[in-house]
Amino acid sequence: MGVHDELVYLAGGMTTLDGPYQDAVTTVTAFNTTSEKWQRLIEAAANVPEGRQHAGRVAGTLFTLLEAGARRMPTPRGGLAGTIAGAKLYTFGGETNQQTVTGVFDDVEAFDFKTREWTILKLMTVPRHGSSAVVVGNKIYIPGGGLQQDGLTVVVDGIPHFLNTTNHFDVFTV
Ligand SMILES: *[C@@H]1O[C@H](CO)[C@@H](O)[C@H](O)[C@H]1NC(C)=O
Ligand SMILES: *[C@@H]1O[C@H](CO)[C@@H](O)[C@H](O)[C@H]1NC(C)=O
Repeated sequence: MGVHDELVYLAGGMTTLDGPYQDAVTTVTAFNTTSEKWQRLIEAAANVPEGRQHAGRVAGTLFTLLEAGARRMPTPRGGLAGTIAGAKLYTFGGETNQQTVTGVFDDVEAFDFKTREWTILKLMTVPRHGSSAVVVGNKIYIPGGGLQQDGLTVVVDGIPHFLNTTNHFDVFTV
């Protein structure tokens, strides 16, 4: 979701959640805050090249509206937190990590809008997903999050954990 001038853009998303089945659509639509109506976009901007939901639960791509092609993120992940600080897009954590028992990521990666390149940054102290990232001055705050992938039970010392959350709070200086 993004705002540009008088339009609020919605890109991708999910229309079906049926047990384990979830879809991911490519549709981009815009709400015009002046006319207070939804409107169609020109064909070149009406779809993202790949479906995604939960900020790309299983995708690892970044799309720029009206710019050809897709740019791969270093680490494909979904349910991540992202924000823009300065001339960079910062991304934190996420889920659907096949390499860990918890299914969550601790990755921090930034996309530079000028160089069009991704940089891999220092890992998060507590891997998690479903958090949010907000910028105040030169700091990015990332409060809380889920400690294991949604729907996943994690057994630690014989005790099963499900929907375990954290009150851990990251302050990331840019
Ligand atoms: C938004 O709606 C207004 C009123 O109908 C229209 O004049 C304007 O061109 C629309 N904006 C865009 C970006 O299409
Ligand atoms: C679940 O949360 C508790 C309390 O915050 C923590 O001690 C425990 O390590 C967590 N378990 C997992 C699997 O993350």
